[in-house]
Amino acid sequence: MATDRRDDDSALSASRTDDDYGSHLERSRTVWDRWSNWYEMSERDLEPMREATIDRLDLHPGDRVLEIGCGPGVNFERIRCDIGPAGELVAIDYSPEMVEKARERVETRGWENVEVRCADATTAEFDDPFDGALATLSLSVMPDIRRATETVYRTLRPDTTFAVFDIGTISDGPARVLNPLIRRFLRWYANWNPDGDVVASLEAVFDECDIVDTYMAGTMYTVVCEKRDRV
Ligand SMILES: C[S@@+](CC[C@H](N)C(=O)[O-])C[C@H]1O[C@@H](n2cnc3c(N)ncnc32)[C@H](O)[C@@H]1O
Repeated sequence: MATDRRDDDSALSASRTDDDYGSHLERSRTVWDRWSNWYEMSERDLEPMREATIDRLDLHPGDRVLEIGCGPGVNFERIRCDIGPAGELVAIDYSPEMVEKARERVETRGWENVEVRCADATTAEFDDPFDGALATLSLSVMPDIRRATETVYRTLRPDTTFAVFDIGTISDGPARVLNPLIRRFLRWYANWNPDGDVVASLEAVFDECDIVDTYMAGTMYTVVCEKRDRV
């Protein structure tokens, strides 16, 4: 079911260099530090889509879960419900202000099994493997989506799932004419990665990958990726 989500607006698509990577990452910090103060106002708007994405992980009590680009921790409560007090959630975000907000949420609720780290998902390393991983509205704003996806793949146990909910351009029909506008808005608002292709990266790295839900003319979508035991 996966489709090519790129369109013909190539004006913004140049090949990425290390400088592009560094400047994208730094701009990401500035943009998301700023939005961290306002995020609470809209964080419940997409809750049904986020929850449907977490459902796809089919988590169990005691599971160890990774979330990348966690923002202020909007998914923590639901994940914690699924994994219970015996499970463990490790969440990372590159914006120090988002991390602070997420840690405040953890401290206020007294969740002892949720750890929030300030890290770039592209280069982050983890000591122990995970039973599931989640990214909601975060992969598409990262400077190197393919490498961030590889980070997740490496750290998952075999036969586990990476569930992704993300946003993009319109893939079919005449409304594609709006895509240049959508791209520019997302770049301004979210430091969206104009060269990235979330679905193509997931398909390239994971053993199985399906778009399972689409919303709002396909501009929002959930992808379920499986890591299989290759031995
Ligand atoms: C739109 S917010 C999504 C927050 C939350 N996951 C949600 O569903 O609302 C995107 C988040 O990705 C984070 N982010 C961007 N680039 C990142 C990177 N390279 N590594 C880790 N987090 C990153 C941003 O700091 C921001 O908090």
